Amino acid sequence: MRKNPMGKLIDGDDSLLDNDEFDKLDDQHSFGGPWTRIKLEALEKYLVAFNTALSKQSFTRLYIDAFAGTGRCDIKVEGEKKTVDGSARRALATNPAFHKFYFIELRTKKLAALNALGAEYPDKTIEVIKSDANAALKTLCGRYQWRSERAVLFLDPFGMHVEWSTLEAIAKTGAVDVWYLFPYAGLYRQAAKNADALDADKEASLTRVLGTDEWRQAFYAQNPQSDLFGSNNGDVRNTDHRQMLQFVSKRLKGLFPAVTDPKVLYQSGDAKNPSGAPLFALYFAASNPAPKAHGLATKIANDILDTL
Ligand SMILES: C[S@@+](CC[C@H](N)C(=O)[O-])C[C@H]1O[C@@H](n2cnc3c(N)ncnc32)[C@H](O)[C@@H]1O
Repeated sequence: MRKNPMGKLIDGDDSLLDNDEFDKLDDQHSFGGPWTRIKLEALEKYLVAFNTALSKQSFTRLYIDAFAGTGRCDIKVEGEKKTVDGSARRALATNPAFHKFYFIELRTKKLAALNALGAEYPDKTIEVIKSDANAALKTLCGRYQWRSERAVLFLDPFGMHVEWSTLEAIAKTGAVDVWYLFPYAGLYRQAAKNADALDADKEASLTRVLGTDEWRQAFYAQNPQSDLFGSNNGDVRNTDHRQMLQFVSKRLKGLFPAVTDPKVLYQSGDAKNPSGAPLFALYFAASNPAPKAHGLATKIANDILDTL
């Protein structure tokens, strides 16, 4: 794989992130970009639609933010830096309102900001949880019977943090709608072009996020050069990043009753005029097995995604 002048790796027609760039993005102080605005607008619109649709019913409506941050996001768009309201703050401002909020976060400084945010809303029921998102979500899913509760969950990790077993626990509730910002760049970065570069950590990370080791067979094949030179050069990835994302979609569609096609979010530009590396793939998944419920939820989500 060669490098273009911007330092990105060229894979087919697209510029993909190399490791240094990915690490910069993963840094806790890094700025969000156009993708931040898109994911937050999708979430905000869905939260209003969800509460409006259920406002005449007796369900307790929960909002769960599993990678909650601080309530504010620093973003840089076309060189201009600004701060916008983050997911937790947007959820608190939703009207009609949720009955209860769970904010999960790992970092101490961010937890302090979330507690301060909670203090701005003394009339709301807010639980700030210091934990790894996977552990906290599994506990929360087991805490309710999910007969009289309905929830929206935002999964907004920087990288390959959401375990498949967590998604299984969420799907099992039959009552949680999920917005999942899938770490597309994390996926193609871990799935090295040359299988020799796949170390145990990378393999474990891919299996943890995808919930199967079938990715190995799906993504890799014997290097066609092997036969040519009479030597075994090992396996190479024979799928491009789009095909890898199709594998992700297939996995999610096998777990949840309804899943939208992903909206790919890029490093710069916007969804209509994308440029730069593909960073994330925004999915909506409904866990309610009732066709009427998940049909309506995905219709609302698709309508929102179409406007962004
Ligand atoms: C992309 S930011 C979230 C931004 C936030 N959703 C918003 O829109 O304002 C990801 C957050 O996840 C936190 N984080 C990273 N790993 C985590 C984990 N395993 N469990 C919970 N939080 C984690 C980071 O500290 C960071 O604040």
